[in-house]
Amino acid sequence: MSSGALDVIEFLLTTHLYDKHQNLDENDLPPEIRQVFWHEGSIERPLRATVENAREAAGLDRPWEAISDLMFTDRDEFSGTLELTQPEMAEKWFLDRAADRVAANPTLAYAFEDRDDVDADYETARDENRPVQADRAWIDSLLAEHFSDEEEEDGENMLDLVDIHAPEEVELTLDDLVLTENQEDEIKKIVKAIEHREYLSRIGLREIGKLLFVGPPGTGKTSTARALGYDLDLPFVEVKLSMITSQYLGETAKNVEKVFEVAKRLSPCILFMDEFDFVAKTRRSDEHAAIKRAVNTLLKSIDNISLIQDDVLLIGATNHPDQLDAAAWRRFDEIINFPKPDDQMRADILRVITREMHIEDFDPPALAERTEGLTGSDLRMVLREAVLDALMENRTDLRQDDLLRAIEDFEERDNLKDLDMIEGDHDALVAGGDISGAGGEDDGHSHDH
Ligand SMILES: Nc1ncnc2c1ncn2[C@@H]1O[C@H](COP(=O)(O)OP(=O)(O)O)[C@@H](O)[C@H]1O
Ligand SMILES: [Mg+2]
Repeated sequence: MSSGALDVIEFLLTTHLYDKHQNLDENDLPPEIRQVFWHEGSIERPLRATVENAREAAGLDRPWEAISDLMFTDRDEFSGTLELTQPEMAEKWFLDRAADRVAANPTLAYAFEDRDDVDADYETARDENRPVQADRAWIDSLLAEHFSDEEEEDGENMLDLVDIHAPEEVELTLDDLVLTENQEDEIKKIVKAIEHREYLSRIGLREIGKLLFVGPPGTGKTSTARALGYDLDLPFVEVKLSMITSQYLGETAKNVEKVFEVAKRLSPCILFMDEFDFVAKTRRSDEHAAIKRAVNTLLKSIDNISLIQDDVLLIGATNHPDQLDAAAWRRFDEIINFPKPDDQMRADILRVITREMHIEDFDPPALAERTEGLTGSDLRMVLREAVLDALMENRTDLRQDDLLRAIEDFEERDNLKDLDMIEGDHDALVAGGDISGAGGEDDGHSHDH
């Protein structure tokens, strides 16, 4: 019997049992199955087991053909639905062949946990099932419900200001990142706070859950925030603050409010604000009044959102802590430092990013010694160059020497890049030109000079 038939029967049994047990909710449906039923942020009974839904849920082109031989199945050609004519028989057929699947399907676990031939329990299955807010389909259906109409009418779009990632779309986990002890402790602390938010609310401790990541570019701030979303199964709502200036000005403040509204609807979630120094910069400069208004709205919205009450974890990040003013600082209850990695960390980062490779004579500590001042992001770039250079020589075997050579190239290129940063001063690119005026925006290069 093909696993295709098992997939389709599991789908039909699940929809049947979910309709029958009204106390079950969306978190009792496996993600592959519930993805086809979202409508405006919820799933309504009865679940329609159409051929099309079965096709998508089971990932099978011809779901009916996979089960048409079974005597307990039927298809209604007119309505396009599949059904189980004798559910008990379907249950027995399924459990004889795939009782081990029950543990991964809370709806089935609920119905079958007391049977002798089933080794699964409902509570565990539900705990291990991915929560709904991790589904892209859920996020999209919510956004469509609350925000689609208005956007299409106005030219400007609230969704330009945010980028939303479902945990299932994030590839990076905390295991892929090399963190300092302090970073790990802070992350553990926040994970505990999230787990115990009801308790914290009860004892009146609400000033928690606003983190500021501070450090030079390429030290893992964005990656850590995203990985946290992945590990905690939380949607990741990224606010692109720089978009505030490019928006149609009159509507910007309103759109900032909408961003927070989105975050509250998607909660529990992470609300991430990169380039937070933008806020302070705007307050200082003589920007357009509408932009200032938008930034003030932003600060007010930050004050009004809370991990304990709204289930929104706020993370800000900045490469320029020196530019933040007191008003910006005081909105965060934890500052987490992202320093450039030390020797030990660089060696560990090299180990992590080469995990899937074999490198001859690989000596991470020796490479770490040669890469003082480089960030995790720089090290990734070095590795990429080493791989590409080897490919140019038609080699897929990588050696320590390739990495050493790539480090030298990187340092050379980094020097050139610094020259390139001097805006409009082309003389500086000529050998012997005066480069003493180098300065200004330093995003993107990560060496101290
Ligand atoms: N400590 C680290 N451990 C592993 N990878 C890192 C680390 N720091 C940076 N990287 C890698 O460098 C790249 C850029 O990191 P990113 O998170 O965008 O840095 P930032 O947001 O601080 O500028 C990512 O691919 C990330 O995986
Ligand atoms: Mg970043």
